[in-house]
Amino acid sequence: MMRTMVSKTACVLMAAIASISFSAGAAQITEADNSKFSRFKKQHESWMKTSESDEVEDALAGDPNLVVLWAGYGFSKDYNKARGHHYAITDIRNTLRTGGPTGPEDGPMPMACWSCKSPDVPRYIETNGEKEYFTGKWAKGGDEINNQIGCGNCHDNNARLRMSVPFAIRAMDTIGWNWKEATKSQKQTMVCSQCHVEYYFEKSNKFVKFPWDMGTDALQIEKYYDSIQFSDWTHGISKAPMLKAQHPGFETTTSGTHGRNNVSCTDCHMPRVTNAEGRKFTDHNVGNPFDQFEFTCARCHDQSKEDLEKVVHGYKEMVNEAKLNAEKQLVHAHFEAKAAWDAGATEAEMKEVLTAIRHSQWRWDMAIASHGIHMHNPAEALRLLASSLERSADARAALARVLAKHGYTDVVAIPDISTKAAAQAAVGWDMEKLEAEKAKFLETLAPKWDESYNNKYGSSPE
Ligand code: HEC
Ligand code: HEC
Ligand code: HEC
Ligand code: HEC
Repeated sequence: MMRTMVSKTACVLMAAIASISFSAGAAQITEADNSKFSRFKKQHESWMKTSESDEVEDALAGDPNLVVLWAGYGFSKDYNKARGHHYAITDIRNTLRTGGPTGPEDGPMPMACWSCKSPDVPRYIETNGEKEYFTGKWAKGGDEINNQIGCGNCHDNNARLRMSVPFAIRAMDTIGWNWKEATKSQKQTMVCSQCHVEYYFEKSNKFVKFPWDMGTDALQIEKYYDSIQFSDWTHGISKAPMLKAQHPGFETTTSGTHGRNNVSCTDCHMPRVTNAEGRKFTDHNVGNPFDQFEFTCARCHDQSKEDLEKVVHGYKEMVNEAKLNAEKQLVHAHFEAKAAWDAGATEAEMKEVLTAIRHSQWRWDMAIASHGIHMHNPAEALRLLASSLERSADARAALARVLAKHGYTDVVAIPDISTKAAAQAAVGWDMEKLEAEKAKFLETLAPKWDESYNNKYGSSPE
């Protein structure tokens, strides 16, 4: 009953706000409740299985360099590797990056942080408009954004494939991937690329934007960010104006061997499978394609699963080694820049250094942030890591001159960063305080969000 009333009000609103009619199905408000789609039994059941990928892997503990590279920014407080789509809401609530808000106007993050977490996002935008969605703190959306990534993110209410959010549709249009003109294979990649992309929050209105005005290559994006003088944060050690790559899966995959051969994300991650009754359907358990080898790689390749796994593992080791080399140089550059500031370097003397650090770290981040790059495009990962090394060499050569000019001739010492805890102490986080705030939020405000959502929409999330 409640739900019907909400939808009716929303329809009136939709008619009034012409600027938000962004797709052919604009008159329809997205059904965000995944249980309402259970009539699509095979798809719904396989979608539920994304909950089986439940392992939490602490990326900072695995590689404490990351704490230094992201010093002063949320990612150095807490960063876990991606797991199943089922956990998107749980994980955004749990991460220390979103802090411990005590009410709707509190906390470090903006509303935009919900954008790749839930079918409630298209529902909210269609109901209230994009401007209202992007206004305010993350906590404002706590009792509105509640269902796990699901049907409404990639489908309309009749399970037809679509893109669901206007900012992604606009970005795809920028690069000539228009939904109406797109091939089937492009569409299969576009639905994933609503989220698995690089994006930033525009300064003027906090809208999500994909930085593709000059192209989707890492160096074109770098140029774009430089041209608008955008930075995500000022580095806590070197004071460089930094960029943080998000999860540029689209950018790095479409330029790889498979992407250039029109192999879509879903060819590997959501294959057409045949069940025990001989019925064909799209497997909605988005996960590791090797788990469905017969329906994924083996459709196009003759090699055995073991052989291909070995190839991919080999790429992974190569990329990982290059990644650690690039990180080592960046860690030194950040601490040497701090030593230069402490020795009395001027803004003018540091300008070239800070730009080189910014570029070096951006290229490194673009090479690793999407995790699967060793499979999607290993050549791109190695190219970017090599060019990261080139820019950190530029930074360190310039730093040597600045340091010498200010009479600093010692080797700049690096503090103990051998563990996550040591590195977090070195960059100055009070972890106990951050953890206590989070625990309080999870005990007090988060349950209220669920309760309020249920009261408004009469459903509890699956
Ligand atoms: C991450 C995106 C995504 C999500 C989430 C998603 N789907 Fe799909 N769905 C797809 C893609 C891609 C296809 C294949 C379409 C194609 O190849 O043209 C598909 C196909 C389908 C089809 C057509 C029949 C088939 O098996 O190919 C149905 C029905 C369907 N999905 C239902 C659902 C339901 C129900 C949910 C929620 C429980 C859901 N989908 C969630 C992307 C998604
Ligand atoms: C609405 C945004 C959204 C869409 C659409 C989306 N993803 Fe994701 N994806 C995420 C988020 C967020 C995570 C991380 C979830 C977590 O760790 O809590 C993730 C995680 C993943 C993972 C890791 C899964 C695991 O078990 O480790 C893979 C693989 C993946 N996505 C592939 C895809 C593919 C392929 C598509 C398109 C068919 C797609 N995603 C569509 C947001 C999205
Ligand atoms: C040719 C097959 C293929 C294509 C195409 C492909 N992937 Fe992958 N992807 C894989 C494999 C295989 C892995 C796991 C690599 C491994 O086991 O180390 C992976 C890993 C990932 C991961 C990391 C998962 C994790 O838990 O770390 C994400 C996210 C992802 N892919 C998303 C995408 C998106 C988005 C697209 C399209 C833009 C895409 N993939 C296209 C095969 C593919
Ligand atoms: C829809 C077809 C298709 C699927 C599915 C597919 N591939 Fe490919 N793969 C190709 C094509 C096409 C090429 C390029 C072949 C060429 O240039 O000779 C390629 C090339 C490769 C290469 C060599 C080039 C490189 O990037 O290193 C490897 C390794 C590879 N695939 C592994 C895999 C694995 C592993 C999977 C499953 C996770 C997979 N492929 C799934 C079509 C596919």
